[in-house]
Amino acid sequence: MESALTARDRVGVQDFVLLENHTSEAAFIENLRKRFKENLIYTYIGSVLVSVNPYKDLEIYTKNHMERYRGVNFYEVSPHIYAVSDNSYRSMRTERKDQCILISGESGAGKTEASKKILQYYAVTCPASDQVETVKDRLLQSNPVLEAFGNAKTLRNDNSSRFGKYMDIQFDFKGAPVGGHILNYLLEKSRVVHQNHGERNFHIFYQLIEGGEEDLLRRLGLERNPQQYQYLVKGNCPKVSSINDRSDWKVVRKALSVIGFNEDEVEDLLNIIASVLHLGNIQYGGEDSGNAYITTDTQIKYLARLLGVDGLVLKDALTHKKIIAKGEELKSPLNLEQAASARDALSKAVYGRTFTWLVNKINASLAYKTYKNASVIGLLDIYGFEVFQHNSFEQFCINYCNEKLQQLFIELTLKSEQDEYEAEGITWEPVQYFNNKIICDLVEEKFKGIISILDEECLRPGDASDITFLEKLENTVGGHAHLTTHKLADGKTRKVMGREEFRLLHYAGEVNYNVNGVLSCTHSLCVVHPQVMCMSENRILTQCFDRAELKDSKRPETAATQFKTSLAKLMEILMSKEPSYVRCIKPNDAKQAGRFDEVLIRHQVKYLGLMENLRVRRAGFAYRRHYETFLQRYKSLCPETWPSWQGKLADGVSTLVKHLGYKPEEYKLGRSKIFIRFPKTLFATEDALETRKHSLGERERESPVVVQAWWRGILACRRAQRKRQAANTIRRFIKGFIYRHNERCPENEYFLDYVRYSFLMKLRRNLPKSVLDKSWPTPPTALIEASEQLRKLYMQNMVWGYCKRINPEWKHQLEQKMVASEIFRNKKDNYPQSVPKLFMAHCLCDTPSIFPTVSPLVDCNTKSLKIYETLFTPQYAVPVTKYDRKGYKARPRQLLLTSNCAVIVEEAKLKQRIDYATLKGISVSSLSDGVFVLHVLTEDKKQKGDVVLQSDHIIETLTKVAICADKVNSININQGSITFMVGQGKEGIIDFTSGSELLVAKAKNGHLSVTAPRLNSR
Ligand SMILES: Nc1ncnc2c1ncn2[C@@H]1O[C@H](COP(=O)(O)OP(=O)(O)O)[C@@H](O)[C@H]1O
Ligand SMILES: [Mg+2]
Repeated sequence: MESALTARDRVGVQDFVLLENHTSEAAFIENLRKRFKENLIYTYIGSVLVSVNPYKDLEIYTKNHMERYRGVNFYEVSPHIYAVSDNSYRSMRTERKDQCILISGESGAGKTEASKKILQYYAVTCPASDQVETVKDRLLQSNPVLEAFGNAKTLRNDNSSRFGKYMDIQFDFKGAPVGGHILNYLLEKSRVVHQNHGERNFHIFYQLIEGGEEDLLRRLGLERNPQQYQYLVKGNCPKVSSINDRSDWKVVRKALSVIGFNEDEVEDLLNIIASVLHLGNIQYGGEDSGNAYITTDTQIKYLARLLGVDGLVLKDALTHKKIIAKGEELKSPLNLEQAASARDALSKAVYGRTFTWLVNKINASLAYKTYKNASVIGLLDIYGFEVFQHNSFEQFCINYCNEKLQQLFIELTLKSEQDEYEAEGITWEPVQYFNNKIICDLVEEKFKGIISILDEECLRPGDASDITFLEKLENTVGGHAHLTTHKLADGKTRKVMGREEFRLLHYAGEVNYNVNGVLSCTHSLCVVHPQVMCMSENRILTQCFDRAELKDSKRPETAATQFKTSLAKLMEILMSKEPSYVRCIKPNDAKQAGRFDEVLIRHQVKYLGLMENLRVRRAGFAYRRHYETFLQRYKSLCPETWPSWQGKLADGVSTLVKHLGYKPEEYKLGRSKIFIRFPKTLFATEDALETRKHSLGERERESPVVVQAWWRGILACRRAQRKRQAANTIRRFIKGFIYRHNERCPENEYFLDYVRYSFLMKLRRNLPKSVLDKSWPTPPTALIEASEQLRKLYMQNMVWGYCKRINPEWKHQLEQKMVASEIFRNKKDNYPQSVPKLFMAHCLCDTPSIFPTVSPLVDCNTKSLKIYETLFTPQYAVPVTKYDRKGYKARPRQLLLTSNCAVIVEEAKLKQRIDYATLKGISVSSLSDGVFVLHVLTEDKKQKGDVVLQSDHIIETLTKVAICADKVNSININQGSITFMVGQGKEGIIDFTSGSELLVAKAKNGHLSVTAPRLNSR
């Protein structure tokens, strides 16, 4: 308001409480007009924001504007929707109390735009994390989706919300928006099947037809021409210049995916939208009074497919109704008119329930999962008071809702005023205001209220009708001061009322309601369609039409009671929060910028209860402010308080106002605030301030120089201090370096600690990565021992970790490799080459070349059987070459190792068996060849002598033999030649020599000569 005080002469007052003549409606409207002409669309009534729709872009919603209002006191800047948003946000954060912002006004006044601006403000200015970004996106993107399905072009607004919306925005403890929840009220379902001239159906239908891709339309059986659809031609204006359905379609499609709809859900949703259009095109034939039949079978075909229902059942449902006679359920055919209304009822039900499903789906996507204790700011964007030529049940509900909101508003505003007076210790002076509780009771009271009477009439057996309801009203509440009917009215009123109307005297004025159709609106007639829809295969409809609903024999709640209940819940929600208000006003009916239609505005000022609001707000005092703020602003006006007041704030303010000559009746001093009764007192003070500013101007011009000099001095001091610290650190370091080899002493402790620290940090970055990595940073002298201990510990830890990770197979493999190393390392030339090769598994199945040749022989002879036995217990098998003892002829064989013997097999025949007990030793050369000799005991008569074999996997083969036969120490590695027993006391000799390539042949001297290439230089 301080900014209001400065700006007051140019553009009226920024706060209506500063109007001198605050009870004058004309002064109120004049103030609005003055400001509107200057494009100042916002004005306060205390903390209530009044907003006039400019119908043009004002460039007052930029990021810079948002920054200007962020964290700034409400009254320090000019009125703005951002100031209200910021104020609620800060109250929520500092007082930890949930907030709500109630936006009201008639259709086209700018409610929805205001709520979007608030949401944008939070999205831009609130802190955020990555996860929160998606929530912000979803919160913002929920708007285009809800608008596509819930908004329509009406005569008053090209984008009129046809449902009431309450949205909670949830914030976490850091103040970041983290979730949301939407409640929807009273979707105007009748629009699905009928639109007044110049109005349209819900946007989504046109968006789909204009923007939908060719093959999508083909799938849905739709044509790109809205004129083809009965439900879209009633208002005769499918195209609107201010709306681009095609680009809106793209926005909606994108928004759906941001919110988290998958392709299947989108398809189901569009199937429903298309079905509604097809339903509208269903036509009936038949006599007026006879039974109706469907003449458009194509539609039924599409509908059956899109809705996933049986075509015949659907047809039946559209031409019959369910009646209950003597407790039995019967079907009765419908005539033309009834059938058409059954069809429309189905369309409305399908669309209405899908809309609720959509809201639930959005809620699921906005749900805040992590924390329970979110703080909340609620936004209520709900239809304002409506008075038409013809007012029906819908207007009745809307106006009842406004009546309730007004009650809440008055109660809360009065209460907060009273609370403040009490807190400040100032006597409350009662204000005259109209308490509309009497009207709320008339509508909602149990048993006696209009809604109860309507329910009773709906649900009673017998021939209840709209007229019997009217009669009942007359009989029950006919004497009420706020209700009259044609019959009860005086002559003058009767002239302006229809016979089928009743009149309510609302807080905002009189409204005549027509009772025609009220019963059918309230109570959905007993039609067959819920049963059909329950059978639908469309996944959305199965959720919308629950089978349990059919079984529930209780009569459903009427629409009026449902609304009353949901309104009561809303009031409860709002009561639990701290409210702020935005009152929207529409300046003209032509949606034109710059036109200020006074009659229209006076009407709204009245219906919004703004004068009442101002009166309550001005109850005693026009202005109140904390002592500190007041003193800060005006202290220059009094020598005692200027340039600063050292005593108590209250005393300072008291001294100041006395000096200014305030009369006792003009102000009161509370506990922490000063209250000023008349704006003129304040304006006089403000004028004095202006004059004073000029005289202070000179001194003010000097003051920057003084401030600059001080500040420079402070900066220089800080810089010098930093330099001193830096020099000390360097000095200590150098000294430490000089004394580094001494015992720890004050001179070197800083340096030694630093060296230790940096070694440990370096070690941390350069630890060995594997057991084989032997690198280790060089430690400083002081840490040699510790470093060694650490190294050992670290290695042990790594080895331990490594061992823990080895599996049994690998362990077995390593054990075998250990044995091989013991026997051959540094002894046989080709040992190093064998190290990286894995030893083969010990099972015969791993050597398939042997197995098939053996198995067919199993049942043929006993020898084979033995082989079979051996084969099924072998631990190792390998192809070898056997050299005859005499001619050294090479023959391919297989060597099998079992648990107690080695077997030499030729294909399936067992050629030789060597029990390990008879195996004396094994000889092999030190070269790279694979020749080895199995020495067997000669006393064993069965044995033919030693066996000369050659294996391509010599290291592996001999390691296996050594393990199986337990002969690790019996393997001889010979340098030049090996002597072996041929049998009957004769000896054979194998000579080994190095050469360029492997060669095994009988030499001229009768020895077996083996030439092996040299693989490793020793
Ligand atoms: N603050 C504003 N600045 C510019 N145009 C506005 C503003 N508020 C409303 N309008 C215009 O008025 C139209 C109707 O506003 P809307 O918020 O949909 O009304 P309501 O929700 O009250 O029915 C909007 O489509 C927009 O063109
Ligand atoms: Mg709206």
